Amino acid sequence: MKIKTFKVEQWMNEFENDALYNLGETCIDSMSLRELLELAGKNPEEFLASLADERMTYGYIEGSPNLLTGIAGLYENITSQQVIPTHGAIGANYQVILSLIEAKDNMVSVMPTYQQHYSIPESIGAEVRPLQLTLENDFLPDLDLLRGLVDEHTKVITINNPNNPSGSWIPLGIMKEIVEIAKSVDAYILSDEVYRGIAENESYMPSIVDLYDKGISVGSMSKIFSLAGLRLGWIATRSSEVLKACWTRRDYDTISCGRLDDLFASIALAHKDAIFKRNRAILNKNRAILDQWVRETEGVHYLKPVAGTTALVYYDKNIPSYELCVRLIKEKGLLFTPGSCFELEGCVRIGYAFDSKTLREGLDKFAEFLKEN
Ligand SMILES: Cc1ncc(COP(=O)(O)O)c(C=O)c1O
Repeated sequence: MKIKTFKVEQWMNEFENDALYNLGETCIDSMSLRELLELAGKNPEEFLASLADERMTYGYIEGSPNLLTGIAGLYENITSQQVIPTHGAIGANYQVILSLIEAKDNMVSVMPTYQQHYSIPESIGAEVRPLQLTLENDFLPDLDLLRGLVDEHTKVITINNPNNPSGSWIPLGIMKEIVEIAKSVDAYILSDEVYRGIAENESYMPSIVDLYDKGISVGSMSKIFSLAGLRLGWIATRSSEVLKACWTRRDYDTISCGRLDDLFASIALAHKDAIFKRNRAILNKNRAILDQWVRETEGVHYLKPVAGTTALVYYDKNIPSYELCVRLIKEKGLLFTPGSCFELEGCVRIGYAFDSKTLREGLDKFAEFLKEN
């Protein structure tokens, strides 16, 4: 199977370690095990010492009961039997796409998005129909465009909500319309929801599985739980066909998720309110810092992100985004992600969910660069 290079992952692999100001990162300020355990009201030394005698068996093959209930609790009407733990959201997306899409199918994918969603189906030989999100349209799907893209051979419509890189969030009314369009051709909706869960105002953020019985939600401990090192994600769906297809495939590529990953993820899920409180404060504070910087800086503009951990910032310079980002890392130690990693030009993706000091200093470095060039 020939597959294209995963541009954003290649970019990060090549440059992440050189960054003094890492604004390429998309996780909310990652936690240590100590911080997690303290947030969960446990004594870190005692708890970690108690693990020393754990035998490293495979553990629960299909996920521990605590893990499955914890994940199901992130949705309105998902049971623990409707959850499949995977190796990160990256494993979940892979499972779903490979289990559902065949060469004879077409699928619709929003763009920009995480590249898995279009490059894996392309590699299978399926036809990918891009649904372009634009700055002019607030990076929200154009419903007329979507209606024109689907037909009876459309197997899946893939969205990424909240959207990486733009930070947009599809309002409920538009989501319901997307569901109607999917129903009209009997297509699944795969919604990559790794950034879902922390609304600015603490309200519940609806998932595709709350709205559609052929909806598939992909989630993960990496972003909103700040625990990417656990490498634990999941598929949640009410569709018995999807569950069956993915469980069958999972025996071949996963067996079980790591026993310790399962344990720490279960603890985090049981204390999600404390983690979300920590992370909402980081997001709201840093979104305001970024917003103020954009308003005060000449030659840049953007759509203010409402969700997720990233924003697309457009710059008024005639420099290709890849070249600009390479120069920023080499000359200023500042890591952004080029728009070209998302098939866009004239913009960079800024991950702002890190510590505020790094964000402020990194943005100042960018302003300095723009003045100098
Ligand atoms: C939209 C999206 N989906 C999936 C992933 C993969 O996440 P995980 O660390 O859970 O594998 C990422 C990581 O950046 C992402 O941005």
